[in-house]
Amino acid sequence: MEPPRTRVAFHDLQPRAASFLDDVLAGLTAPQKTLSPKYFYDGRGCELFEAICDLPEYYPTRTEMAMMRTHAHEMAGRLGDDCMLIEYGCGSGHKTRVLITQLRPSAYVPIDIAGGQLKASALRLADEFPQLNIIAVCADYSRPLRLPEIESMRARRRVIYFPGSTIGNFTLPEAGQFLRNVCALAGAGGAMLVGVDLKKDPAVLHAAYNDARGVTAEFNLNLLRRINRELGADFDVSAFRHQAFYNAEIGRIEMHLESLAAQRVTLAGRQFDFHRGETIHTENSYKYSVDEFRQLARASGFEPQAVWTDPQQLFAVHYLAAPQA
Ligand code: AVI
Repeated sequence: MEPPRTRVAFHDLQPRAASFLDDVLAGLTAPQKTLSPKYFYDGRGCELFEAICDLPEYYPTRTEMAMMRTHAHEMAGRLGDDCMLIEYGCGSGHKTRVLITQLRPSAYVPIDIAGGQLKASALRLADEFPQLNIIAVCADYSRPLRLPEIESMRARRRVIYFPGSTIGNFTLPEAGQFLRNVCALAGAGGAMLVGVDLKKDPAVLHAAYNDARGVTAEFNLNLLRRINRELGADFDVSAFRHQAFYNAEIGRIEMHLESLAAQRVTLAGRQFDFHRGETIHTENSYKYSVDEFRQLARASGFEPQAVWTDPQQLFAVHYLAAPQA
């Protein structure tokens, strides 16, 4: 007998159109020049990020993956049957596969700003899980989302899966607002599973963001190449260098691009001057103790329940429950 055909639907909410140029212009105009890390992920940026995840120094991916292999069964047991699994950011999908195998959700809704990668990963998953109903949505999940395509779909529980410690790329107020939005989307009785990088020895953190092969440097510099290509800027990429350090007071890794010379860059008819040593702040990666993150989740409307950590205390996966109606 033929297996039932997988259903994959795509919805493009056009996340990029107006905002990329506006965001870059605003960021380069600020006193501390800034670019949002969400723009790292063009095709090349996605490839470089995949390469980062395999680096010996970058422990988060393999640690979280191992935790999923060990604990996904228990996570699925807590969540129960007939869940709609909504994933923010779809990456390579390795952790998702492990969760889907255990949870057997009634529908899977990956949401990502990188449309090409989203499609490819949804189609790969469709091959592997022929019974799974997949609704892929290209959207910017850092902004409040309306998802009419799923509002009419019935499920006993909505579960938002947000692995990879991508929540660490938001500032504290952004992370709080983001969790409030997720809590509203999860709805009564819904839940969130979120991977969060733990505070640890700064030397371990430093190495993870300054790898010996220079892949993270390339990932950071690729943002300037993307702005040149897509927005017609004239950044001399060789006149910038990657910088990443742990800011212990704030509890975050900061990535910057440092100008190696006094220089002028033109974008959309406007000119931006850099002095030697001036930086563009491109990413924050906040690290949270278990208690700090539970506090943040509670203040954002969730009830923190279980938390899993690895034996070396590098990484945590939190189970947060949205309140019952
Ligand atoms: C996607 N995000 C969680 C990564 C991080 O660790 O903050 C992005 C990254 N930046 C440099 N290396 C990896």
